[in-house]
Amino acid sequence: MAKRILSGVQPSGKLHLGNYFGAIRQHIALQEEADCFYFIADYHALTTIGDLHPDRKQRGQTLRDYSRDVALDYLALGLDPNKAAFFRQSDVPEVTELAWILSTVTGMGLLERAHSYKDKIDRGIAANVGLFTYPVLMAADILIYRSHLVPVGKDQVQHLEMTRDMAGYFNTAFGVDVFPLPMERLDVAATVPGIDGRKMSKSYGNTIEIFAEGNPLKKTVMSIVTDSTPVESPKDPSRCNVFALLSLFVDQTEKAKIVSLYHHPMEDAEQRQGRPFGYGDAKKMLLDKINAFFGPFRQKRKELAAQPDYVEEVLRKGAQKARAEAQKTMELVRLAVGMGPRPVT
Ligand code: ADP
Ligand code: TRP
Repeated sequence: MAKRILSGVQPSGKLHLGNYFGAIRQHIALQEEADCFYFIADYHALTTIGDLHPDRKQRGQTLRDYSRDVALDYLALGLDPNKAAFFRQSDVPEVTELAWILSTVTGMGLLERAHSYKDKIDRGIAANVGLFTYPVLMAADILIYRSHLVPVGKDQVQHLEMTRDMAGYFNTAFGVDVFPLPMERLDVAATVPGIDGRKMSKSYGNTIEIFAEGNPLKKTVMSIVTDSTPVESPKDPSRCNVFALLSLFVDQTEKAKIVSLYHHPMEDAEQRQGRPFGYGDAKKMLLDKINAFFGPFRQKRKELAAQPDYVEEVLRKGAQKARAEAQKTMELVRLAVGMGPRPVT
């Protein structure tokens, strides 16, 4: 079988620079090289349903809207539906069946050690069973397409380890070799910091949205937290959130130039009416970079938003391809675990 690549992203809010540089950029680049499956993880987003909307009656529509937003974002950013199968997770319901089967070969201890679960509990989130078994569904997502490579951000590495464990438990429990052991693939920007310096994440409210523009974008960039080093003093780029974000957009030469400005704030002062280079200047630089980089994608997104039928058609075709693959795997799984009639030998 050709190398199979798979990844998913939760429709739990607007996508941000962390998602782009940690995951989406790889997803788009890899579609040129391999057989790719990318999906909108709406079953997963249900585990934090309370975050979707405070008004319970609005939650269903909000999830649907977020799923459509993720679809528009990916298509605008360059996902080519002729190269990659792109679909909603819930359009392949077989994945929940596999999750159940995997849960029966998985020990409680494995799930109890999950960082992302422990982190949510520590933040006082009242956990539902779905949140606890989240890694099992994620393993099912990956294994049902018998994927080899999973491009994700660093925070997902433990989930990949757990997926390999579960693949092994299943193969061992039934004496078969149904699932290959998948590997994670990290981008160089494995963890992008948010505007407060913690990992950028929808759940921390510290994101810079990919498709923000105009004043809201400016406001967000200007609110990036920096230290109180006086403007005329040398600054340490390695401890600066603005610099970390700027680094995502520049090549080595430009990066070296910016480092030099941090160390020598009076360098090229004539270009700033004699003022030293301060954090405000770095933020303006970042804003310009974001606008230049994402500007063309914004136009594309607006065009796509005006064609809802096209977007639905892409997701429908993607699900058709994915579901056919998932059903093939489930035939092997059901045969191995003893479901269905005795096979004719
Ligand atoms: P969030 O934490 O905002 O809810 P998701 O968990 O939906 O984001 O992540 C979707 C993808 O983006 C995953 O592959 C994840 O590893 C990656 N990702 C999310 N935040 C970051 C970040 N700050 N840096 C790098 N990658 C990230
Ligand atoms: N857990 C991933 C995240 O929060 C989303 C996800 C669900 C996923 N299923 C997956 C990622 C399968 C890769 C493969 O980002």
